[in-house]
Amino acid sequence: MTPNERSIERYRRHAVGYDASATRTMPLRLRTIAFLHLQPGDVVLDIGAGTGLSYAPLLDAVGPGGRVLAFEQSPDMHARACDRVRAAGWPNLWHTCAPAETVQLPEPADALLFNYVHDITRTPAAVDNLLRQARPGARIAMAGMKFFPWWTGPLNLLPWLKNRPYNVRAADMWSPWDRVKARCASFHLESTQWGMGYIAHGVLRTA
Ligand SMILES: C[S@@+](CC[C@H](N)C(=O)[O-])C[C@H]1O[C@@H](n2cnc3c(N)ncnc32)[C@H](O)[C@@H]1O
Repeated sequence: MTPNERSIERYRRHAVGYDASATRTMPLRLRTIAFLHLQPGDVVLDIGAGTGLSYAPLLDAVGPGGRVLAFEQSPDMHARACDRVRAAGWPNLWHTCAPAETVQLPEPADALLFNYVHDITRTPAAVDNLLRQARPGARIAMAGMKFFPWWTGPLNLLPWLKNRPYNVRAADMWSPWDRVKARCASFHLESTQWGMGYIAHGVLRTA
């Protein structure tokens, strides 16, 4: 099985209970979205959008003249996002079921949201494909889990165990943001969840 197939298999199990399990992290999601500084008319990309829990706040921020683009590789998660879109009838949203490594976006985005998409941020081909299609100078916001500093030793069993059911690359949590940061002109990072999480925002280099 490829890493993508293993991820799809995991989310086959998680899809049903995903929205309920994500309720308590909604304030963190909204804080991450706020770092995108979205303006009416912006095009924003929701990366690995899951069940579409970020669609409503992103659409609110870009207004009727803006657009939300989104993709998700798990058919089970994407099916729930489709239900959400059908129920709400949002006209200015484009989304598809596709992997980050090969997805083709219909237009360049002004802002990119990486919310809890660890396997994507740790896959060079995925990061390359997405950043190649973004507008130069695009704003970026990221959030996810990370390891505590190395000197905390066995404490890192906790983030690893929490991540393992969801992420294929759970052992690679020292600096999950670094591939994106390397492509940014500016980048700010802070710890969340007592050091077991991070929230970051930056601006893509223009060349
Ligand atoms: C923890 S969920 C987060 C979903 C959503 N971003 C949210 O904030 O609710 C991680 C998502 O990334 C998706 N994913 C993982 N690897 C992917 C890839 N290579 N391409 C597209 N989606 C991927 C998973 O299927 C899953 O839906």
